[in-house]
Amino acid sequence: MAHSIQLTINGEERRIDLDDPRVTLLDLLRERLDLTGTKKGCDRGQCGACTILVDGRRINSCLALALSHDGAAVTTIEGLAENGVLHPVQAAFIEHDGFQCGFCTPGQIMSAAGLIAENQAGSDPERVREGMSGNLCRCAAYAGITEAVLDAGNRMNVSAGEKAA
Ligand code: FES
Ligand code: FES
Repeated sequence: MAHSIQLTINGEERRIDLDDPRVTLLDLLRERLDLTGTKKGCDRGQCGACTILVDGRRINSCLALALSHDGAAVTTIEGLAENGVLHPVQAAFIEHDGFQCGFCTPGQIMSAAGLIAENQAGSDPERVREGMSGNLCRCAAYAGITEAVLDAGNRMNVSAGEKAA
């Protein structure tokens, strides 16, 4: 039986027919919508490569059934930059060499964006490492990743403060 769901993906409303109710958000994005920036590493919730934001919160999309997120707003790595300008987290990853092969990077960046939005880590490297611990990097680029998240968090807090002033 076909199921139809509605998702807002990177700001665009989409009605999607699912031929299989068991399809995950990860497979929906990659295999049906050609949004291949979100990576499939373990496909079992252990590596974080598939991290996306759903209604502003980070999740492992390999563990999420698309059907159970009917009506949600989904942000993937393809939707993070605005008007051709990199998101502060993306820019900070480049500046701080927060990657080597790049396979884990979309998940790391989405997780960092979510962590900063959660406002849980502040400027404490240990808390950033803890908050990012669900995202594994086979290249062990962790030092650059932590620096990038701290830098992006600072920049975004300064910019939020300027807007509020
Ligand atoms: S692919 Fe989803 S956590 Fe590894
Ligand atoms: S940069 Fe290679 S897996 Fe993280």
